Formats: sequence, structure tokens, C-alpha cells
Amino acid sequence: MKRALKILWAVGRTPWSAPWSVRVPLDPLFAQPNQPRLRLPAMWGGLFNLRPGPEGAPNRPLAVFCTHQPSLSRILILLFAEAALALTAHAQATPFQADSNRGAQLFKDLSCSTCHNVNGQGGNIAPDLGRLADRDFTPAALAATMWNHAPTMWSTISARGVHVGDVTEQAAADLFAYFYSMRFFEKPGDAARGKRVFEERGCSKCHGLTQEAQPGIAPVSRWQSLNHPFALSEAMWNHMRLMLAATGAKRVAWPELSAQDVSDLLVYLRNLPTSSASAPLFEITTGATGSALFREKGCVTCHGSDAALAGRIRGRTMTEIAAAMWDHGPRMAAANAPPAVFQPGEMRELLSYIWAQQFFEDARDPARGRRVFVSKGCAGCHENAASGAPNLFSGARHFSGPVMTAVLWRHGPAMLERMKATGVKWPRLSAEDMSALIAYLNLSNKGKP
Ligand code: HEC
Ligand code: HEC
Ligand code: HEC
Ligand code: HEC
Repeated sequence: MKRALKILWAVGRTPWSAPWSVRVPLDPLFAQPNQPRLRLPAMWGGLFNLRPGPEGAPNRPLAVFCTHQPSLSRILILLFAEAALALTAHAQATPFQADSNRGAQLFKDLSCSTCHNVNGQGGNIAPDLGRLADRDFTPAALAATMWNHAPTMWSTISARGVHVGDVTEQAAADLFAYFYSMRFFEKPGDAARGKRVFEERGCSKCHGLTQEAQPGIAPVSRWQSLNHPFALSEAMWNHMRLMLAATGAKRVAWPELSAQDVSDLLVYLRNLPTSSASAPLFEITTGATGSALFREKGCVTCHGSDAALAGRIRGRTMTEIAAAMWDHGPRMAAANAPPAVFQPGEMRELLSYIWAQQFFEDARDPARGRRVFVSKGCAGCHENAASGAPNLFSGARHFSGPVMTAVLWRHGPAMLERMKATGVKWPRLSAEDMSALIAYLNLSNKGKP
């Protein structure tokens, strides 16, 4: 098994050109007299609708081999390609660092707020951008939405003479973090259920609502952590030593909390008449010290790499993560590992860092990406040097949702002009299309020697 993996790894690292090159006919609409040589990953996409290569293709044997011995060889090639895809996709993740506060500032500075609002703050000419950040909100989805609306947006911008700033890759990442953070608190919770959780899970034994239930332990009315989910997570984590001692001594079960419990608790506690909770603030920071904290606080001993943990929390909300942190109690006890104490702000740094790792790397299904690239007409320009469109496969560029957004912002108007001139309709992309395109562009880039 190890050896097989090694071989697959070697294949994954082999420059795609030379022996693997094959001609796969493009959509006839975009077929160019001088078709580019596609590399293995592109071929993988081509395999699904493989037709014989054009007459006289110098590297036809592989195509023939594929079509004439369909089942086994196809499966083998698919397996190889799949393993190679997995390996290269893994190898190239470059974490983005985003800051929601910077994003909030950019939203004003770049004049987005002249037309758009986020949860009621800003202009009313254009759609509310916070609305996009539901559970399925991903940078690829946002890039796709922006892509689809861009032509109308640009004409509004020029019609109204609004001066908009440059959306760089970093600016796009910060804006996304801001949109995400503004929607964070909309998870429905139920105060009556929250009250029950507070009592039944034993919180009320130590915490009074307005008075100290135990000497020296702050009542809820003085809690600072209800406005910041990261701070809540931090406070809960720092409880673990205490709770472990208490549950161990009394032989009572660990009071587990689900994400729903945490939401309910938050709604109940935040809405108490004596609550000092103010407007909630969910800040995503750049997590500059996150990687160091991951090691320092011992997460690394059980979770291995930070990337592995990032993979596990893909698509989780911060409330779910807060609940998962609390449920570490029994795990820490089982591992005989006293939980490390977090200083104020450290949990935010650590979780922002891990969150950003999984959040911005939303690139799936490169085979579909190849099909999108061809069917939406991108290949017609970008694989045809005569069209004047730049070669997208020339550098070691890493594509992502923020990068595609910056690209759209900077090159979109020129692209639109070129499309109008050549009678190509502005392509509409779904979130899945965008995510697949990103995966495909990255893979193709990687393949160039
Ligand atoms: C002059 C007004 C204006 C400015 C300034 C502006 N937009 Fe837009 N934007 C629009 C309009 C109008 C639409 C809707 C276009 C449509 O309906 O197809 C739109 C659509 C969008 C969409 C798709 C939203 C959806 O729900 O469909 C996104 C994302 C977006 N804009 C982001 C931005 C960002 C980020 C900025 C700032 C860098 C910005 N816009 C600046 C007018 C503007
Ligand atoms: C065994 C006693 C004990 C129990 C049971 C307990 N806590 Fe605590 N809690 C503490 C102590 C001690 C502190 C830290 C001292 C302080 O902040 O007053 C604390 C602090 C907190 C804080 C931080 C408060 C702030 O300043 O923002 C939160 C939030 C919190 N607890 C939530 C809970 C929840 C939710 C439960 C029930 C699942 C719970 N606690 C159960 C003892 C307890
Ligand atoms: C003693 C071992 C141990 C340590 C140390 C540890 N974890 Fe965990 N963690 C686990 C286990 C076991 C799970 C549950 C995995 C599962 O559900 O299969 C888990 C789950 C999680 C989850 C939820 C992900 C999921 O798959 O459900 C998060 C988030 C998490 N841990 C973060 C952290 C962070 C951050 C640290 C460091 C502060 C940390 N953990 C330290 C053992 C540990
Ligand atoms: C009608 C021709 C045409 C089509 C169709 C087209 N593009 Fe472009 N594209 C261009 C041109 C021209 C530029 C350069 C614009 C400039 O110089 O600002 C460009 C620029 C780009 C860039 C930025 C390149 C860089 O070096 O930063 C990317 C990425 C891109 N296009 C992706 C796509 C994708 C994805 C599609 C399909 C959904 C597509 N393009 C469809 C003509 C096209």
C-alpha cells in the first residue's frame, strides 16, 4: 500500500506533459486549428466524453488506448488521476489571512457601501451582501455571484459615476470575512430551552444571574464573553480543569453541550433584563499567532497538523466549534492531558487561523472545472493566443475565491468588452462551477514544468 502510494505520489509529481500528453477535442464551437496539448488532469475531464483525437495527432496512442480498452485502463487512469489530484490539491494549499474589521473599513473605503448594505448598514441601490452569508456561504459562491452580476453592476457604477477602489486579493478576503461575521449571529435559538440548559447542565450551581452563587465567581450580569463567540469558547475551554475536577470528584457525567444548546444558552443569557450584553461582535482576525498557539496549547498532539483540523471543521459554524471545544472535557480526561489555559484573545487568534485555512480553500472537482472552462467559453479565448486573452496556465499562481474576485474586478471590464466584440455571452457560473474552475486552474498551473 505504501509503495503504491509512493508510485502514485511520483506520478502526481511528474510534469504532466511528455508521456501523458493527449489531444482531447474541445467543444467544436471553440476548437482551434492549433489545439493546445492538454495534460493529464485535463484529460481526466476529457475521458468522460472521449472521442478519437483529430487525425494526425502526434500523441494519439493514449487516446486510442483509452477508447479501445475501456474498462480496466480507464479505471486505472482514473485512479491514478484521482490520486494525483488529491496529492497535488493537498500540496498547494496556501492559507489566507483575513480580518473582518479591515473588511468593514474596506466596505466603506472602496465605496461598496454607496450602493450595497450589509444587514441594513449602507446604501439601498444594490442587494444586501450580508444576505449571501448563509450556511452555504463560501468564497467561491461569493465570487460566482459577483461574476454573474458584474456587467449590471459595472453599468450602474458608471451610470452613477461612483468612484470605486481596487479590490485586491487581500481586500476580497477581508470583505468576505466581514460579510461572514455580520451574519454570524443569525442562528436561531430559543430562550426557554436555554434556561433549561443553564440549569440542567449545572451552570447555575456556580453562576448566579445577578448575584454570586459561589463566592468569587462572576454572575452572568457581569460576563464579558456573551458578545464574542470566540471569548465564550475561550471561557468554556478554561473551565475544563475545574469541571473535570468537579465531575471526577462527584462521579457525575460531563455536561455535554450541542451546538443547539450553545445557541439557546446565548439567546437566553443575552436577553436577560440584567444582561450587560451589547451589540454582538464576531471578529475574525488574521490569526497571525494561530499556528504557534496550535502547537503551544497542545492541539497538535491529538489533531496532528492544523490543516487536518481545518479539514474536519469545513462548513461548521462557530457555535458548533464552540460546542466541540467544550466536549473536549472527557477527551482530555481520557488522554490524561490537563487542558492548557488560554489568555484573553488567544482563542480568537487560534480559531480565526484554523477557520481561514478551511474557509478560503474552497476548490473542488477539477474535472468538472475543465468542462466548465470549455463550455462557458473561457477556453475559446484563453487557449487561443490569437484572441489576445492571457494564458492562465503560465505561472505558479494560486487561484481561490478572493483571487477570482480580484481578477474579476480588475480584468472583468476588458473581458466583457472582448466578449461583446466577439459575440460571446457573459458566462453565468454557479458556486459549484466557480469552485471547480478554481480547482482546475490550480491543477493545470501545477502541472507546468
Ligand atoms: C454604483 C453602485 C455599486 C457599487 C459602488 C458596488 N456595487 Fe456591487 N452591485 C451593484 C448592483 C446594481 C448589483 C446587482 C446587479 C444585478 O442585479 O445583476 C451589484 C451586485 C453585487 C454582488 C452580487 C450580489 C447578489 O446578491 O446578487 C456582489 C457580491 C457585489 N455587487 C459586490 C460589490 C463590492 C464588494 C463592491 C465594492 C468593492 C461593490 N459591489 C460596489 C451596484 C454596486
Ligand atoms: C464548578 C463551578 C462552575 C460551573 C459548574 C460552571 N462554571 Fe462557568 N465559571 C466558573 C469559574 C470559576 C469561572 C471563572 C471566574 C469568573 O470569571 O468569575 C467561570 C467563568 C465562566 C464564563 C466567563 C465569564 C466572563 O467573565 O465572561 C462563562 C461564559 C461561563 N463560566 C459559562 C459557564 C457555563 C455555560 C456553564 C454551564 C455549562 C458553566 N459556566 C458552569 C465556574 C463554573
Ligand atoms: C486529548 C486529545 C485532544 C486535544 C489535546 C485536542 N483535541 Fe480537539 N478533538 C479531540 C477529539 C478526540 C475530537 C473528536 C473527533 C471526533 O468527533 O471524531 C476533537 C474534536 C475537535 C474539534 C471538532 C472537530 C470535529 O471533528 O468534530 C475541534 C474544533 C477541536 N477538536 C479543536 C481543538 C483545539 C483548537 C485544540 C487545542 C486547543 C484541541 N482540539 C485539542 C481530541 C483532542
Ligand atoms: C472573449 C474572450 C474571453 C473569454 C470568453 C473569457 N476571457 Fe478571461 N480574459 C480575457 C481578456 C482579454 C483578459 C485580459 C483582460 C485585461 O487585460 O484586463 C482576461 C483575463 C482573465 C483573467 C486574469 C488573468 C491574469 O493574468 O490575471 C482570468 C483569471 C480570466 N480571464 C478567467 C476567465 C474565465 C474563468 C473565463 C470563463 C468563465 C474567461 N476568462 C472567459 C478574455 C476572455
